Amino acid sequence: MLEVNQDYLKLRGSYLFSEIGKRVNAYAKANPDKKIIRLGIGDVTKPLPPVVIDALHKAVDEMASEETFRGYAPDLGYEFLRNAISDVDYKRLGCDIAPDEIFVSDGAKCDCGNIQEIFSKDAKIAVCDPVYPVYVDTNVMAGRAGVFDEAKGMWDNIIYMPCTKDNNFAPELPSEVPDVIYLCFPNNPTGSTITKDMLQVWVDYANKNGSVILYDAAYEAYISESDVPHSIYECEGARECAIELKSFSKNAGFTGLRLGYTVIPKSLVRGGTMLHSLWARRHGTKYNGAPYIVQRAGEAVYSAEGQKQIKETVGYYMNNAKVILSGLKDAGFEVSGGVNAPYIWLKTPDKMTSWDFFDHLLNNANVVGTPGVGFGASGEGYFRLTAFGKYDATLEAIERIRRM
Ligand code: MLT
Repeated sequence: MLEVNQDYLKLRGSYLFSEIGKRVNAYAKANPDKKIIRLGIGDVTKPLPPVVIDALHKAVDEMASEETFRGYAPDLGYEFLRNAISDVDYKRLGCDIAPDEIFVSDGAKCDCGNIQEIFSKDAKIAVCDPVYPVYVDTNVMAGRAGVFDEAKGMWDNIIYMPCTKDNNFAPELPSEVPDVIYLCFPNNPTGSTITKDMLQVWVDYANKNGSVILYDAAYEAYISESDVPHSIYECEGARECAIELKSFSKNAGFTGLRLGYTVIPKSLVRGGTMLHSLWARRHGTKYNGAPYIVQRAGEAVYSAEGQKQIKETVGYYMNNAKVILSGLKDAGFEVSGGVNAPYIWLKTPDKMTSWDFFDHLLNNANVVGTPGVGFGASGEGYFRLTAFGKYDATLEAIERIRRM
C-alpha cells in the first residue's frame, strides 16, 4: 500500500498564520458585532503603486495582440527585469551581482521554502529562534529536522540560535558548525537588525567553515539606519558563501500579485559544484516563470517614479510603526523593533504566555497579533504586531490596547 511522506506527518499543527486565521474567524463568527483590527500576518493594506498599475495595464494590452503576445517566460526571468534588479538593487550599493546570477520567481516565501532542495538530506541547518516558520517547516518536510522535543519546543537535529533581549535579538555564532545558516535582516519577527560589521563576522565564519548563508532580505526597504546593510553582498567574501532572497511584497505591495527573486553568485561553490547550476536546473524543471505582466510590473518598481512611490508607501507603514512603538511604550509595554522593520516585538505583560496574550487582546481589544511562541521557543512570552495596517485602524488598535 502507498505510504505517504512520513516527514509531513511530523509537522506541528497547521501553519502559524493559518492557525491564527482559524481562531480569528471563529471569534468573528461568534461575535459578529465586534470590529476586529488585524495586525497579525504581515500583509500590506496600501494599493499597488500607480506606476505598477500602469505597467500591468500596458502588459495586459500587449497580451491581446499577436505581435506582442508572450507565452512561457524564460525560466530564470526576463532580462529587462534582471537587468533592472542588478542595476538598482546591487550596482547602486557597489555590489557585484550580474543579471544572470538573479533568478526571478513568484515570491520569496516559495524560494526560501524550496531552496533547501539543493542541499543534501543530512545537511545540518541553523535558524534563529524565534524565526519565520517556513524555514523550519520546509526542513521538517524534507526530513532534516529530526524529532520534535515537546518539552523544549525544538527539533533535535536543528541548531537553534536564540535571539533574546540579552543579545539584543541578534544571533550569536553557533558552537556546532552548521552546513546551512538561515539569517533574516531586518528580522521577522523581532524587527531587529545587525550592522554591516556584525554581518561581516557571519560571512567570515561561513567562509572559514564551508557553510552557506541563506540571507532573507525581504524587509530591506524598511532600513532607516546607515550602518545596517541592505544586502549581504555589501560584505567582503559574501559572493563565496551567500544566497540572498528578496521580495516585491513588502516594499511594493505585491503580496497578492506575487514576485520575488533569489541571487546565487556563480562563485558560490560547494563540493566542486556551483550552487547556481543546481538552482537553475531545479528552476527549469519545476517552474515556468513568473507571469510576463507581473515581471513588467516589477520592472516599473525600478523606474525613478516607481522608487519614489514605494518610498512613500514604506514611509506610511513606518509611521504606523512609530505610532505602535510610542503608544505601547507610553502604556508601559517593553517593546523593540519598528525602527528598521515593519514589525514591533513586545513582551507580554504579567508573564502571560504568548497565546494567552493573543486571546486576551482578541477578547478585550478585538485586536489580532501574532504570538511570539509561534515563531519558536524563544518567542514565548513575546508578541508581534505589524505596521502594515491602515493608519486609522492602527491608531485605534493602540488606543484600545492602552485602555485595556
Ligand atoms: C509574516 O507575517 O510573517 C509574513 O507576512 C508572512 C509571509 O511573508 O509569508
